[in-house]
Amino acid sequence: MKLGFIGTGALTSAIVTGLKSVADNDVAVVLSPRNEAVAADLASRFADVRVAADNQAVLDACDTIMLAVRPQIAHDVLAGLQFRPAHRIISLIATLSLEEIAALVSPAERVTKALPMVAQRQGPTIIYPPDPDVVAFFARFGKAFAVKDVTEFDALSVATATFATYFKYLDTLHGWLQGHGVSDPTARSYVSALFKALAQAPEAAPDTDFMHLAQEYATRGGINEQVLRELTDRKLFEAFAESLDGVHRRISGI
Ligand SMILES: NC(=O)c1ccc[n+]([C@@H]2O[C@H](COP(=O)([O-])OP(=O)(O)OC[C@H]3O[C@@H](n4cnc5c(N)ncnc54)[C@H](OP(=O)(O)O)[C@@H]3O)[C@@H](O)[C@H]2O)c1
Repeated sequence: MKLGFIGTGALTSAIVTGLKSVADNDVAVVLSPRNEAVAADLASRFADVRVAADNQAVLDACDTIMLAVRPQIAHDVLAGLQFRPAHRIISLIATLSLEEIAALVSPAERVTKALPMVAQRQGPTIIYPPDPDVVAFFARFGKAFAVKDVTEFDALSVATATFATYFKYLDTLHGWLQGHGVSDPTARSYVSALFKALAQAPEAAPDTDFMHLAQEYATRGGINEQVLRELTDRKLFEAFAESLDGVHRRISGI
């Protein structure tokens, strides 16, 4: 496979770093020149990764193309490029539909959307339509979820809008601990270790749904129950669900 990237930013950097960190990879990578610093850094770190002169040179050199520009500029960037019917296109652009992408990369015929979360090569990737080669590619980084229709893809995509909020939650806890006499490194290390352990609970109890886990941890009259009840009473989780609805409307164009 000769894999080209249009857009060399945070996501491309994570995918290329992950790809080149696995022992059995024989994928040659060609990067578009923007961002210049990110592209140069990747090319200097890994064999078989080079930077093309421009976006068209990426297409001309590769059979598989990942689209990794921001959605706001995708139309302008892609409309000026010449794709081939045999190009396999994998769009990573979260908010552009399969139909929009297919129109922009015509006459390329194999078009897939993938939404990866490839931090530390552990993240899941949602894939639609379920192209087996694309599934095999992203399975290197963690679990690949090939879904049956666009409705499922869009709904699962909404879950990826919650990462920043998760870290703000941890930051609130970290800041509170510091305000109560815990040193910065201890607070950070403790919060990290605590939530790493908690993250394993659902896989350790695969038959237990999330609300039952919440109840298991919320001992009656205990401190977990207190925080859960107080935040529930303040409609925090309703507000969260409303935000998910808003993101869903934006993603699915409803
Ligand atoms: N980051 C994630 O975890 C993640 C996860 C899932 C999906 N996505 C999607 O992946 C896409 C990229 O996200 P990102 O976080 O990697 O964004 P990013 O860091 O901003 O990367 C986008 C890159 O596109 C480059 N670019 C700008 N104009 C260009 C042009 N005309 N031709 C080619 N490249 C150009 C930018 O270069 P300059 O810096 O020089 O402007 C930048 O390096 C987005 O559509 C996003 O929705 C991201």
